[in-house]
Amino acid sequence: MNKDIERARERIEALSEEIEAHNYRYYVIDDPVISDARYDQMIRELEKLEKQYPSLASPYSPTQRVGGRPREGFATVRHLSPMMSLANAFDEGELRDFDRRVRQALLDEHVRYVVEPKIDGLAVSLFYENGLFSRGATRGDGETGEDISENLKTIRSVPLRLRRMVPALEVRGEAYMSKDSFAKLNEAREETGEPLFANPRNAAAGTLRQLDPRITASRGLNLFVYGIGYNEGVDPSDHSEVLKLLKELGFRVNEFHLFDNMDEVIKFCLDWKSRRFDLPYAVDGLVIKVSSLGQQQRLGATMKSPRWAIAYKFPPEQAVTTVKNIFVRVGRTGALTPTAEMEPVRVAGTTVSRATLHNEDNIREKDIRIGDRVLIQKAGDIIPEVIAVLPDERKGNEKVWSMPSECPSCGSRVVRAEGEAAVRCTNMACPAKLWEGLIHFSSRNTMDITGLGPAVLAQILAGGLIHDPADLYSLRYEDLVALERMGPKSVQNLLGAVEASKKNSLSRLIFALGIRHVGERAAKILAERYESLEILMGAKEEDLIAIPEIGPKIASSIVSFFAQEQNVQVIDKLVKAGVNTRAEKKGSGSGMLAGKVFVLTGALENFSRQEAQEIVERLGGKVSSSASRSTDYVVAGDKPGSKYDKALALGIPILDEKGFREITGMD
Ligand code: IVH
Repeated sequence: MNKDIERARERIEALSEEIEAHNYRYYVIDDPVISDARYDQMIRELEKLEKQYPSLASPYSPTQRVGGRPREGFATVRHLSPMMSLANAFDEGELRDFDRRVRQALLDEHVRYVVEPKIDGLAVSLFYENGLFSRGATRGDGETGEDISENLKTIRSVPLRLRRMVPALEVRGEAYMSKDSFAKLNEAREETGEPLFANPRNAAAGTLRQLDPRITASRGLNLFVYGIGYNEGVDPSDHSEVLKLLKELGFRVNEFHLFDNMDEVIKFCLDWKSRRFDLPYAVDGLVIKVSSLGQQQRLGATMKSPRWAIAYKFPPEQAVTTVKNIFVRVGRTGALTPTAEMEPVRVAGTTVSRATLHNEDNIREKDIRIGDRVLIQKAGDIIPEVIAVLPDERKGNEKVWSMPSECPSCGSRVVRAEGEAAVRCTNMACPAKLWEGLIHFSSRNTMDITGLGPAVLAQILAGGLIHDPADLYSLRYEDLVALERMGPKSVQNLLGAVEASKKNSLSRLIFALGIRHVGERAAKILAERYESLEILMGAKEEDLIAIPEIGPKIASSIVSFFAQEQNVQVIDKLVKAGVNTRAEKKGSGSGMLAGKVFVLTGALENFSRQEAQEIVERLGGKVSSSASRSTDYVVAGDKPGSKYDKALALGIPILDEKGFREITGMD
């Protein structure tokens, strides 16, 4: 046997295995560890080898499939026609190859192309029956996706009713998170110690797969629609007509450009490249599509992608610069975040002079020193980060950095809790913590006090008007109107917002308190479980751990938060000011399933996951996403997941669909 073939076989095997492992991380658990560019590179290397040695190409190679599989938790939806992916072109030459292939297949007919931005989000399908939104799904593995109708409905730009009646229509588009929302979400997650999303695409995917649509709604997703998957009753002949039609029907359609030939397309692509950084969302390329639908049909598709379209991918933007210094920022929870101050450098459309270094472990692992030359990149074109040091460029005078043992803001001792990456300031009255805490307390997803921007807050703090969040409720008109740039109208608006915030739900208040590890979801779960903040304050650690989804870390953090006298005083002041601390009445106490906790797994024949959940809740029960000792019933449909095994192990009663109908009184 030829040595080259043997070497190729080994490489193909290694690549296939590695790509499959990355597929799993990317599609199944939303936690990729390599860049898309690196992934593409591996796929291309594999494709090349398989082309060179066709006898080594296996039908199970990762190049032969679209990838991924639906995750447990949502009902599955079979797509009416497969949702494919796009082949990529990385340079002008590859665009010309594409054009050549297209024209050859069409026997040199004239071809016009439509060019659209390629949004870096998540492909979704939306189905309308008689002009009404009936169902929405993720792409999944291309054949079957997940039913995420409820979550898609939270996106305001998704029309629930078309502007014109169409008997049946399936549209496809890209759901995404704006750069701004992505940055805010990650900032909040860093503070509460939750894992960060690597880029807006993952953040959008994670958000659309939230089992609770209220969380989806709060995270600012949006959607651009770019094509039709199935239709009855409309008859466009050209892709540019499709896009116009979609606009008329009420969908959000991105800019698109029609060109007469590939030369024009290429000129446009090269010119457009730098424009992407001006957009409020991440764009990772441009999509070039043959415009005539007749021609599209004749070109057809390969196993994975249509032959009539290609994605022109932009190279990832990286730059090399020098670390001038490393300083520390103190966050709301007292976490000290080391930040690199760098020689300003242009990357992904802006000048960057700072990059977060996350924590001391990251600095140690990458061995980042003051004076180092470093490679930087923006995560999802947004947040600058140091990817690696260039050790060959070291001169010998670089300085190793270490975490200060005192808080840079107030000089108090800092500690690093076991199992945590962050070092925190221990002083409850630390001014840096107070500042960040107030920003968090008043932000949109917590108490929503508009008009309390950083400039106003800085003046309020400097004037000694407030010392904790509860003091916001004793701000007076005279004090505020004396501040710079605060006219009577802004003062009235601010006081109005403060007043209105007293009526907020208990879950908002719990989230606003800034208890470590208690994010939006945990706050909601707590507010559903406890009738009031006062009752929650008395909860014991073991009571809290017994609640599904509240783990020991959260439980212990809650107990120690309420054990601190200063926090209790703040809460007392909030109560005296009239801030609502009671949970909404759910009218569920008397339902036939009152107090019962259900876990749903697998697909039911007659109900979607959402419907089953609504039925349980209407009858006063609760649905939890994981089985534990406090679960009363596990409802198992077709292809149940690991929750089923857990239920068996814990001896929890398991209901099939018939059993579910009986217990809910539907039979
Ligand atoms: S057309 C056969 N147009 O890119 C697929 N896709 O691998 C036809 N994408 O996740 C797709 N913007 O959702 C098309 N303007 C656009 C797009 C777009 C983003 C996504 C698509 C899919 C990936 C293709």
